[in-house]
Amino acid sequence: MDSQSHYFDEEPKSLSETSTVDLTLPDLTATLVTDRGVFSSGRIDPGTKYLLQSAPTPEGTVETALDLGCGYGPIARTLVHRFPKAKIWATDVNSRARLLTEKNVGGLGVNVEHPDNIDENIRFDLIWSNPPIRIGKAKLYEMLEIWLQRLSDDGEAILVVQKHLGADSLAKWLATVPFRVDRLSSKSGYRLLKVTVK
Ligand SMILES: C[S@@+](CC[C@H](N)C(=O)[O-])C[C@H]1O[C@@H](n2cnc3c(N)ncnc32)[C@H](O)[C@@H]1O
Repeated sequence: MDSQSHYFDEEPKSLSETSTVDLTLPDLTATLVTDRGVFSSGRIDPGTKYLLQSAPTPEGTVETALDLGCGYGPIARTLVHRFPKAKIWATDVNSRARLLTEKNVGGLGVNVEHPDNIDENIRFDLIWSNPPIRIGKAKLYEMLEIWLQRLSDDGEAILVVQKHLGADSLAKWLATVPFRVDRLSSKSGYRLLKVTVK
């Protein structure tokens, strides 16, 4: 990506050059199409892999789930596998990311949408996200508040955040808004946070 480009651009400027990455988890192996101009296009991001390996089994039934900031869709691909009966959405501002996610999981029934196009009445039992820390604190907090408010009463969000990119200040902020935050675990500089409605 050139210095003018960001993985969260709505319309990536870098020329398309598709390739594939393998998602390898204890319960799932899948090959995903990726491209320049999206987050971690060359490999499954280690933070994402940590989330997918370590997210706890949700306590309640999962009828609706969201991959928030889907990139090319490794989280959505795993959600489909683990919650085959759930209705699943994947969202991203980056149009190329949405196109890739559509290729990777559209055929498996995932609804891939721009954030503005998801019906705001939908409530999610589960949200998994490796959130876009690089968009800056103000925008990140605004984005999280919008989607966390859409958790169902018994729903939960699992977020993976790098410690040096502000996992602890994010957890503190989340505790000031009407959510309960549990620090589940940390490994290799990443922290896994669980957010529930208070
Ligand atoms: C850290 S990346 C994670 C991508 C993917 N889930 C993965 O694990 O490889 C965060 C993603 O959030 C997207 N994003 C940025 N701002 C957003 C917003 N306001 N709403 C939804 N997605 C956003 C970015 O474009 C980026 O693809």
